[in-house]
Amino acid sequence: MSSLKQGEFVGSLDCGTTSVRFIVFDQYANIVSQHQQEFPQYYPNPGWHEHDPEEIQQVSEACIAHTCEKLEEAGWAKESVKVIGITNQRETTIAWSRTTGKPLCKAIVWTDSRTKNIVAHFEHVLATTGLEVEFGQFKRGDEGVEALRDITGLKLSTYFSAIKLRWMIDNHIEVQKAHGEDDLLFGTLESWVVYNLTGGVYGGIHVGEVTNASRTLLLNLHKLTWDDRLLRFFGFRRSILPKLVSSSEVYGHLSHGPLKGVPIGGLVGDQQGALVGNKCLRQGEAKCTYGTGAFLLFCTGKDIVKSGHGLLSTVAYQPGPGADPVYALEGSIGVAGSAIKWLRDSMGFIKSASEINTLAASVPDTGGVYFVTAFSGLLAPYWDPGAAGLLIGLSSYTTPAHIARATMEANAFQTRAILESMKLDSSTELKYLMVDGGMTNGDVCMEMLADIGGFDVVRPDMRESTALGSALLAGSALRLFGWDILKPTTLAQVNTKGSRTFNPQMPEEDRERGWTTWLRAVERSKGWDE
Ligand code: G3P
Repeated sequence: MSSLKQGEFVGSLDCGTTSVRFIVFDQYANIVSQHQQEFPQYYPNPGWHEHDPEEIQQVSEACIAHTCEKLEEAGWAKESVKVIGITNQRETTIAWSRTTGKPLCKAIVWTDSRTKNIVAHFEHVLATTGLEVEFGQFKRGDEGVEALRDITGLKLSTYFSAIKLRWMIDNHIEVQKAHGEDDLLFGTLESWVVYNLTGGVYGGIHVGEVTNASRTLLLNLHKLTWDDRLLRFFGFRRSILPKLVSSSEVYGHLSHGPLKGVPIGGLVGDQQGALVGNKCLRQGEAKCTYGTGAFLLFCTGKDIVKSGHGLLSTVAYQPGPGADPVYALEGSIGVAGSAIKWLRDSMGFIKSASEINTLAASVPDTGGVYFVTAFSGLLAPYWDPGAAGLLIGLSSYTTPAHIARATMEANAFQTRAILESMKLDSSTELKYLMVDGGMTNGDVCMEMLADIGGFDVVRPDMRESTALGSALLAGSALRLFGWDILKPTTLAQVNTKGSRTFNPQMPEEDRERGWTTWLRAVERSKGWDE
């Protein structure tokens, strides 16, 4: 071991919806070592989607261990890893016991839509009792909805954590009991992972990071504090909440494993992580990550822009404790890569996800097919939980290739829909869109996006942007390599190699015709499941 070289690297643990990876970066964002592992998904009832928090923890620690082994095999000492960052699927909700440190039930995943009734209940409360905005003063009906949006940047939806936590307390006796006896700890995924990496029940810290907290419906977006009015509205005691922390600071140290003693210096929700990793740090810069779902974030700088067109306001990052936060407008698409998985696993059109590129490229167009991939309703900018998946324009001419192409186009149309809203909300015309995520590997998909969207699409060569974002935040906490999130110019040297730009080629007339037809298809898919 003594022959191993010492370097200076940053590790990033990326806990996504279907897999975890741990990546070690050097100062230019070259990947030095990495390991990725999938973990089980549980779908116990239609619309339900669960994870086992302990399985996620085990897989996370296994990824760290395997990456360190590979690092050493490549001739580097594991002591080269000076700091780690963590980035994670957001909104997924975990409830565990303060006394035992064990989860009290499975995690409810962000995609899960079992809580429609809880949403309906709180819509009713908002309409009748209202939300207390000042002592003894309530806002009701539309004013109540606006008050909730003013405070949180969000709307009532099955998507957000408070709704999921309410379901757990109402439906899991153990969670209810723990809440009653003040034994309950709540957290989104970063909170759970940090708690365990720093010692769990034996001294683990219970912290929650602000970009993740901005997806719970419990954070005051303006003050970056938990809001007592919201806690009363949803009926939670304050002691269940983690201590709020920024996206870049030393929170604690790893208590065990090959990186024992290494500081944790960055925490960030995965979509905000990708925004940072794509270096979209200034007002007007935007990225879209095409993973299980697709998430478009548009940086609005120091301003919280309230959307009038179906988008959410969210924290992009807070560069250190007490630092001014940077905000973003977000449009979330529920189904992106998961539609390709569906073509592979349920329809059998392809054997591997990457085959979709060849299949889609085998035909020049969709043959008139449109696919609204509303598998569990539609998120931004339509927000219709009752929308149903819709394939329209089918004829005896239609082949799997046309449907594959229509699946890709669905992403492009939904991206355009979000950007149309962003244009109206921010009155800024987007210059280019940075992209990353599994679906961006295929050139055909990127050409479609540029054509349908009518904007330039920039795809970096190294597309682990999410992990890179959390590494940059962690490196910034230690000012390693001079990385400083507060001074975006210091990141100019990072990940600069080989990006490719896709320009729109489609005639404007064709673009508009396709767009109008897409809008008609969306209208037909809406309100199916009333
Ligand atoms: O809001 C959910 C999002 O954070 C999930 O991201 O990459 O795991 O699909 P991903």
